Amino acid sequence: MTEQTTRTKKKQRVDSGFATRAIHAAEVPDPTTGAITTPIYQTTTYAQKAVGVDKGYTYSRSGNPTVQVLEDSLAILEKGVGAACFGTGMSAITAVFSLLSQGDHAVIAKVVYGGTPRLCDNILARFGLKFTYVDTSDIEAVGEVVTEKTKLVFIETPANPTLKLTDIRAISEIKKNAKLVVDNTFLSPALQVPIDLGADITLHSTTKYVEGHNSTVGGAVIFKNKKDYDNVKYLQNAMGLIQSPFNAWLTIRGLKTLDVRMKRHCENAEILAEYLEGHPKVTKVLYPGLDSFSQAALARRQHLRGHGGMLSFELKGGVKAGLKFASSLSLITLAESLGAVETMVTHPATMTHAAMGKKARLEAGITDGLIRLSVGLEDPDDLIVDLDQAIKKAVA
Ligand SMILES: Cc1ncc(COP(=O)(O)O)c(C=O)c1O
Repeated sequence: MTEQTTRTKKKQRVDSGFATRAIHAAEVPDPTTGAITTPIYQTTTYAQKAVGVDKGYTYSRSGNPTVQVLEDSLAILEKGVGAACFGTGMSAITAVFSLLSQGDHAVIAKVVYGGTPRLCDNILARFGLKFTYVDTSDIEAVGEVVTEKTKLVFIETPANPTLKLTDIRAISEIKKNAKLVVDNTFLSPALQVPIDLGADITLHSTTKYVEGHNSTVGGAVIFKNKKDYDNVKYLQNAMGLIQSPFNAWLTIRGLKTLDVRMKRHCENAEILAEYLEGHPKVTKVLYPGLDSFSQAALARRQHLRGHGGMLSFELKGGVKAGLKFASSLSLITLAESLGAVETMVTHPATMTHAAMGKKARLEAGITDGLIRLSVGLEDPDDLIVDLDQAIKKAVA
């Protein structure tokens, strides 16, 4: 294929539907062999013809062709000018906060993955960055803490694990000079495109839905502006925060089925949310697709085609019943992650959000009895049988 044909084909793919883009947008058959999938370029370095004459790659900390395909695919799906991929979601978040300098201020949503405030308060604060935590579902409250000096507003929507939503468009209108950063891990670009809604930067733990098979850890940051992209690419090389070619390859493979997986995650989560809501031993269910969800109208406005595979609930009997329930499941796995084909259950207070401390956790609505379910792709009837037997064991 000539370079021109490749470019023309890519252009057509950029304009096509989500499933087509997820499979084809950034990937063309390998020019040397015709291999239909991108090879794993498992190399440290690249031969140069002469000093300063290379084929676009010089050293795999600065760039790798396999990782580049993943970055280009994510940039297309998230409507950015470019993307940078990382070895974990946390290193992606570290790179974004590294755009700030000593004395700079960032506003962070009160409910986010527990690792984000741990990074900010226990590590980045030591370098003189200042953080304010606020309920970002309250736009007025955000307006009160954003000043001319605020450089970043960091939100996660839906948030982990309460599913609380933040209106991305509304925040983008009051953020003053700050960059709006959206952690889009819970929905993936199949269900929400933050840059379309006014965000400057979107990020992912690709460990979750993007790769989707519980096989890797990874992170990605996607940029609306070339300047932010260039700055993070510089930081990435300087700090050595990169993704490996093999994990990138597995993530490219995961991305190709993102569309169908997200459809099934949404369908299954809806079925389980309705089942749990109707169960006499369940006191509360949080799922953005339920009419009872306090921000159901915003969910319908902000989400594309569905509300994702994550839900949280509380049993009668609070924390004691919740812990017993989690250890009584047989098909569903008690585990620390989310967003994969296997259904997984987590007790946020003692697992994913333990690092937050009890006071901040309770203020964020993460009660001791809350149980988080990452609904996978199994037959929903089998999942209900498992939930049913575990609830019976947990609540007398
Ligand atoms: C919403 C969200 N963002 C970021 C992260 C961190 O990602 P990783 O575990 O890949 O470092 C997680 C991890 O659970 C998460 O749930």
